[in-house]
Amino acid sequence: MRQKIVAGNWKMNNDKDATKKLIKQLRKSTKKLSLKNTRVIVAPTFVNLSAAIKRAKKSKIEVVAQNMHQAKNGAFTGEISAEMLKSIGVKTVILGHSERRTYFGETDALLAEKVNAVLENKLETIFCFGELLEDRKSENHFAVVESQLKNGLFHLEASAWKHIVLAYEPVWAIGTGETASPEQAQEMHAFIRSIIEKQYNKDVADNVSILYGGSVKPANAEEIFSKPDVDGGLIGGAALKAEDFTAIIKAI
Ligand code: PGA
Repeated sequence: MRQKIVAGNWKMNNDKDATKKLIKQLRKSTKKLSLKNTRVIVAPTFVNLSAAIKRAKKSKIEVVAQNMHQAKNGAFTGEISAEMLKSIGVKTVILGHSERRTYFGETDALLAEKVNAVLENKLETIFCFGELLEDRKSENHFAVVESQLKNGLFHLEASAWKHIVLAYEPVWAIGTGETASPEQAQEMHAFIRSIIEKQYNKDVADNVSILYGGSVKPANAEEIFSKPDVDGGLIGGAALKAEDFTAIIKAI
């Protein structure tokens, strides 16, 4: 079922102490909030997942991973598998973040394999995608987004979509302070739903949660979240401060 989601992607920030502190602050700040059909998620680094999960127990905060390797196990130095994540209590994995695509060469084809591994392990993914500035300038943004979805996700059966959350993140808006306007976000989210409906059916399209990401902050969150096809946000910078992240949760 379509849910509202506010997810904080901590990226390569927060050591163990800072992780514990931020979870503690968020635990407190979300305690009294009534979060009907709304999920609050944070994604710390791999090494701090266990500490975060421990501190988030019996709270409103879900702890998820920022990435994962597609193989079950084996000679992949430095990598982490779905099984390993599952064994410490992770249920959701972010995949395809633009920083993974840009700095670590993750392609649509690789991401399709990672998505398969997520689903084989009965996990959920927050699947990220979005166009570059030059794509938008050349008015190619719809085509780029369509091909990212097609290549990364459209091989799935309709039933698999229960385990998929989408995060549309225009690359030009990530960490730049420049946000897509609420209208631009709504336009793209409606387009995404329309191509999912075409590929699958209205039920799948209506039930998938589509988050917007890219410089969401307390000052703009409410307006972006008020758009009918925007189901929440994937937040980077503003997720690192309890006060800001809490304000964004309240905005939803
Ligand atoms: P930002 O990052 O909120 O700092 O722009 C968003 C993201 O990378 O998910």
